[in-house]
Amino acid sequence: MDMRPIGVFDSGLGGLTAVRSLWRILPEEDLIYFGDTARVPYGGRSRETILKYARQDVRFLRSFDLKAILIACGTVTTTSLSTLQSENDLPMVGVVEPTCRRAALVTKNKRVGMIATSASVRSGAYEAALHRLDPEIAVTCRACPLLVPLVEAGRFRPGDIVIETVVREYLEPLLETGVDTLILGCTHYPLLTGVIAGVCGPGVELVSAGEESAFELKRLLKAGGLRADENRRGETAFYVSDQADDFEHTASLFLQEDLRHSARRIDIEQY
Ligand code: DGL
Repeated sequence: MDMRPIGVFDSGLGGLTAVRSLWRILPEEDLIYFGDTARVPYGGRSRETILKYARQDVRFLRSFDLKAILIACGTVTTTSLSTLQSENDLPMVGVVEPTCRRAALVTKNKRVGMIATSASVRSGAYEAALHRLDPEIAVTCRACPLLVPLVEAGRFRPGDIVIETVVREYLEPLLETGVDTLILGCTHYPLLTGVIAGVCGPGVELVSAGEESAFELKRLLKAGGLRADENRRGETAFYVSDQADDFEHTASLFLQEDLRHSARRIDIEQY
């Protein structure tokens, strides 16, 4: 048994999709969430800058005594996971491998679509992971740089004409390739599930990066004897690098819990 908390981080709100899954499947665990809201989005930046930010995020989280870190960010995973793992002596789970494993299981026609940030698409990490699992899978990737800023601005609800237009424009060419599975390769995108599912229709299965990595973390904790006492209820502490109210508002909506006054602001440049 190990009662230490798990660190979870993302460039902003996206990692909440992993938090939602963790609350469901590991309710006994304490979580420390960091959203780098002062510097979001990461996805249009260079690999060097993303790695620099990710190192600071990890240093901040490691100011707590953690038992594991979930990198709830596709962009950090695709660009920096192996470097961060080699620099840190604690288990770190990213989002790419677990998500691709699920997509490879789900697809029937072996045509998989993947949407993510520009940095993630450029890295080729999702295609490489899918091809390691099954070389016959045809992968069509599309960078969707406008989605993270729109989600961060609260434009994620079905019926919002702006987000619906942007999602349709990004997805239509990809759907024409006949995919039966779509990887939401950025953890912000599950907040758009309603909108994306509406555009894709019932013939396309959505696989969400944040959720699959939560299951992977659960397996890893179990295998390492690192789970907390299952009879307790865990707590989550939220930290952000810019003003907390917008984050709290969207987090409350998404996690369906009143999170007003729950996030603390830190200066990430000090780490
Ligand atoms: N949630 C991050 C991801 O999974 C968003 C990246 C960004 O900040 O652009 O890629």
